[in-house]
Amino acid sequence: KRLAILASGSGSNAEKIMEHFQNSEIAEIALVASNKADAFVLERAKKFEVPTFTFSRKEMDAGVLLEKLQEENIDWVILAGFLLKIPVELTRAFPDRMVNIHPALLPKYGGKGMYGSFVHEAVKAAGDSETGITIHLVNENYDEGRIVFQASTPLTSEDTPDSIADKVHALEHKHFPEVIEGLL
Ligand code: GRF
Repeated sequence: KRLAILASGSGSNAEKIMEHFQNSEIAEIALVASNKADAFVLERAKKFEVPTFTFSRKEMDAGVLLEKLQEENIDWVILAGFLLKIPVELTRAFPDRMVNIHPALLPKYGGKGMYGSFVHEAVKAAGDSETGITIHLVNENYDEGRIVFQASTPLTSEDTPDSIADKVHALEHKHFPEVIEGLL
């Protein structure tokens, strides 16, 4: 199986996924694509000798990203900190073959604008006693695809948005690669 990772930022999840599949018989990370030419995820891909591709929102909406994924015979698309809304043509081209990770326990703290530190700030403000991650298939409605995995971690009043982010990242790094493998 040929997997493509879409990411907009640092790419710590992408790194764990590339590490996990480095000598895999089951799948290979064939491409790392980003809408940010300066995203650190592109540096991480170079370290793993994974080809990279950058595109603008305009190009994505014009079908350039879909063309590239088809050219590369990509079977699965992994969203790992990808911050743009996926065009419907793209979700339709990968039915039940596009996976996203969300840094909270959906359906709580989902939807537009709920990403990164905004999520952890909302969890803190709500005084929740736990948070976690949700890995789900991507369909045409943001954050509403079939949930395939969730894991939670306890929180205390001492936690801050930063410490919450650290706990969530630890869950992501631990589970995302294995959950992806289990889906293939
Ligand atoms: C992760 O917290 C992920 O849940 C969210 O964006 C963040 C990406 O982090 N979608 P990184 O770029 O993988 O370090």
